[in-house]
Amino acid sequence: MSFENYSQSLLRYPELGFSLDLSLMEISASFREEMSTKITKAHTDIKALEAGEIANPDEGRMVGHYWLRNPDLAPNDQLKREITEPLAQLKDFAAKVLTGEIKAPGGSHFQNLLIIGIGGSALGPQLIEEALGAGSSVVTYYFDNTDPAGIDRTLEKIGTDLDKTLALVISKSGGTPETRNGMLEAKAAYESQGLDFAKHTAAITGEGSKLYNFAKEEGFVEIFPMEDWVGGRTSVMSTVGLVPMALQGIDIDELIEGAAAMDELTRQDSNNAAMELALAWYHEGNGRGEKDMVVLPYKDSLMLMSKYLQQLVMESLGKEKDLDGRIVHQGIAVYGNKGSTDQHAYVQQLRDGVHNFFATFIEVRKPRSGESIEVEEGVTSGDFLQGFLRGTRAALYESGRRSITISIPEVTPYTVGQLIALFERAVSFYASLVNINAYHQPGVEAGKKAAGVFLDLLKKVKGALAEEPTDATAIAAQTGGDAEAVYHCLTHLAASGQARQVLGASPSQDQFAKA
Ligand code: PA5
Repeated sequence: MSFENYSQSLLRYPELGFSLDLSLMEISASFREEMSTKITKAHTDIKALEAGEIANPDEGRMVGHYWLRNPDLAPNDQLKREITEPLAQLKDFAAKVLTGEIKAPGGSHFQNLLIIGIGGSALGPQLIEEALGAGSSVVTYYFDNTDPAGIDRTLEKIGTDLDKTLALVISKSGGTPETRNGMLEAKAAYESQGLDFAKHTAAITGEGSKLYNFAKEEGFVEIFPMEDWVGGRTSVMSTVGLVPMALQGIDIDELIEGAAAMDELTRQDSNNAAMELALAWYHEGNGRGEKDMVVLPYKDSLMLMSKYLQQLVMESLGKEKDLDGRIVHQGIAVYGNKGSTDQHAYVQQLRDGVHNFFATFIEVRKPRSGESIEVEEGVTSGDFLQGFLRGTRAALYESGRRSITISIPEVTPYTVGQLIALFERAVSFYASLVNINAYHQPGVEAGKKAAGVFLDLLKKVKGALAEEPTDATAIAAQTGGDAEAVYHCLTHLAASGQARQVLGASPSQDQFAKA
């Protein structure tokens, strides 16, 4: 650790108040030299991507999230309109909701939002709300799972205010089961209070999707388009993120401008923070993800950044095959929460335990908006926060653990836009460095199919239950299912009151009958 090294290696964008400190990553000139062909290719690849090449070959799709913050970059006028028209539509809609021109059917202002979505259709809005929504006049709730108890908990919090709650059903594909279930659960809840669900609901989805057709038939208040050239995990600056943001009164133009500014600077061939990040990831994990990335924002409002980046990085980079079809099992594991809280938890292992990670600190320079009291003579809480960040960074380095430090002046729509754009481009660059498609998610699709197999069996098992108790092996023989899978169906039916279970000495001796 030396000031000279820090001083020489710090990458700064003074116009943004942004800096990236890689001085503790020990990236040598020879590594850069070795990587030079790959670096040149990565720049070429992202240029082609931004120019509208089919950068997601498995799904035959363009990858256009960078156009969302600069529609002039979109390769043709039609695509440009697909950005500008929904933007105008959502601003107009949000303004009408906020001024009360669009009201709930009972005449009240919409005071709550209920966002129904999952993965890329929920994490972006959640990140933004946590980071920037503190002053919002609406309260936002989420159904981001098909957990009935979770749904009930949220409904209990909303209570009798459903009549003032605008539901936003978000699904690009319009066919995601968790979101469909959440929507139907919400519909039932509205109806149980004598309310017309459709008149309290807007959808964000691809034209012609199941959700789109449902929204049309039911007469939803509004439908916002979601284009297939935007991936779920990079959709926060499309209608997916912007509709909630606008309704929460968050400055969407500022967010987009921040992202556009970072995009501009990370298109450069040199002094490119996104390429530097991607190279650091490659260097640390030998281009095979051998080290996990621990994300530690020292600011409560950025707490969801680690969860957001976990999805962005792991769903994009975690791939079995490379672009040439070779088995590579790529990826970088990401986890984290926030500093200094985590110093009282897993940071113990980071400092002293298994050395399988590198840290990414996110420093927010401004401690708070107002005045600070002194918690010790001459020292504020913010001084402590900074002290803990600096202390942990140094302590990790002393025990041979490397780290990156990203600094921003404060948490605003502009800086959050920058951070999102920075990591999106780092992911694009890294994907090119390791030759994978970052824009498909075959594993997620496989998970959806596996749930379908279980549900088909569950229906058969339910049909096979009789008054007379019997065991899983017998029902498996009857239904043609695997005995263990049948057993899990039976215990699930028993737990949800649809079967009776009598415990035997082991699962194979348990008996089940109709409830
Ligand atoms: O990044 C992705 O593509 C996924 O996380 C999706 O966003 C997630 O599966 C939800 O998909 P959809 O928006 O189609 O409901």
